[in-house]
Amino acid sequence: MKFFVDTAEIDQIRELHDLGMVDGVTTNPSLIMKSGRDIKEVTKEICSIVEGPVSAETVALDSEGMIAEGRELAKIADNIAIKVPLTWDGLKACKVLSDEGRMVNVTLCFSANQALLAAKAGATFISPFIGRLDDLNLDGMELIADIREIYDNYGFETQILAASIRSANHMSEAAKIGADVATAPAAVIKAMANHVLTDKGLDAFMKDWASTGQKIV
Ligand code: G3P
Repeated sequence: MKFFVDTAEIDQIRELHDLGMVDGVTTNPSLIMKSGRDIKEVTKEICSIVEGPVSAETVALDSEGMIAEGRELAKIADNIAIKVPLTWDGLKACKVLSDEGRMVNVTLCFSANQALLAAKAGATFISPFIGRLDDLNLDGMELIADIREIYDNYGFETQILAASIRSANHMSEAAKIGADVATAPAAVIKAMANHVLTDKGLDAFMKDWASTGQKIV
């Protein structure tokens, strides 16, 4: 499973990228707002660090506006994936932009039917939002499984990009189901390294080691 980091914070992207943990980046209008930076400037900087797809989101609500914004965002770098919302206009924009050979990430997906339409419209990525479904007491991970089954039934090449990931557990569950990509905040990716038994075991080793009085270097 590819790891995308869901942030517009350069320091976080750089740290994970240096560890080989970043296959791409996703941003959205809220993350751009949090960064406090100009969308084109920060996206260009991200693209100079990360070789993989960097999603930049359109904000127009009509297809013509999304297409114009998508073409403009695509000028930033060759690895831009244009993000459009899963509305009827977003699907129209997806079809036009993907026919032009551009990567398109269709976002704000909350149902298998929406994912089916995005694949028909030529989406490179479909972004089902796990955490926001869980927030409503629905099963976000079940949606990932449904989309996996449908795409595999018909050989759709659209990649399932599990989004709105809130926990390390979400990462392993998405990987078990076979999501192609998971995008998560840097803190969630780092939390995947944590285990209480690792901490406990290390603590015991350190106490025993100290009692030997030895040094390795
Ligand atoms: O990739 C979409 C993601 O940014 C949404 O996450 O936690 O705001 O639902 P969240």
